[in-house]
Amino acid sequence: MSKKLIVGNWKMNGSLAANAALVGDLLGGIGQPECDVAVCPPAIYLAQLRGLLDGSPIELGVQNVSMHDHGAYTGDVSAEMLKDYGVRYAIVGHSERRQHQAESDVHVALKAKRALAAGITPIVCVGETLREHEAGMTEFIVKRQLSAVIHLNGHCVSEIVVAYEPVWAIGTGQTATPEQAQSVHAVLRAQIRAATEHAERVRILYGGSMNASNAAELLSQPDIDGGLIGGASLKAADFLKIIMAAKA
Ligand code: PGA
Repeated sequence: MSKKLIVGNWKMNGSLAANAALVGDLLGGIGQPECDVAVCPPAIYLAQLRGLLDGSPIELGVQNVSMHDHGAYTGDVSAEMLKDYGVRYAIVGHSERRQHQAESDVHVALKAKRALAAGITPIVCVGETLREHEAGMTEFIVKRQLSAVIHLNGHCVSEIVVAYEPVWAIGTGQTATPEQAQSVHAVLRAQIRAATEHAERVRILYGGSMNASNAAELLSQPDIDGGLIGGASLKAADFLKIIMAAKA
């Protein structure tokens, strides 16, 4: 199994000054991490972050990518453009985009395909809502979401990262228990195994109120290969603690 991966999803937060301060604090404390690390700022700050992170162990990611390659798509940013700025990872299908921007499973699969074609690793988010969770539909929902990506991307699925993010745990302080998360991760791993012989290479991250105090236990589960962190990634001390907890 490859190194664990810790990704900060800054969502729509930050400013030139705040980003510089946050990255300064991160670089001041990160040393030589045992895991891979990336941050995903709002796209407008890519040029700034590229400069701030140059030569550091923190890689650059984004929160979204267009499902089109170029042309009359006002407001979109293509995978090739992101590649120009040294982007290594692109979150696709975050539940906030599925919910507020009406992104479907097919849109998410297309975005993953565009990212892969540009040499960017898509971080494909899957996860059930509270209602689906309470109705016992978790497995059905996450498998449906991932199967759209597998269907469109075939064996290339061995190049993606998956993030299991139960919607009811995002930004709520209500984390899935390590056992709950592990059982969904095992389901996803089995699904990836059926699609590629390189399933062990695919890192499956947990996201949803992961923080400095619960990270170590979540990350010790056999199929939890890292974390996608929202709120706690905006506080340097907390994000650094999560990074330290992510040993191989
Ligand atoms: P959270 O967000 O850590 O604030 O719950 C995670 C995410 O939405 O990726």
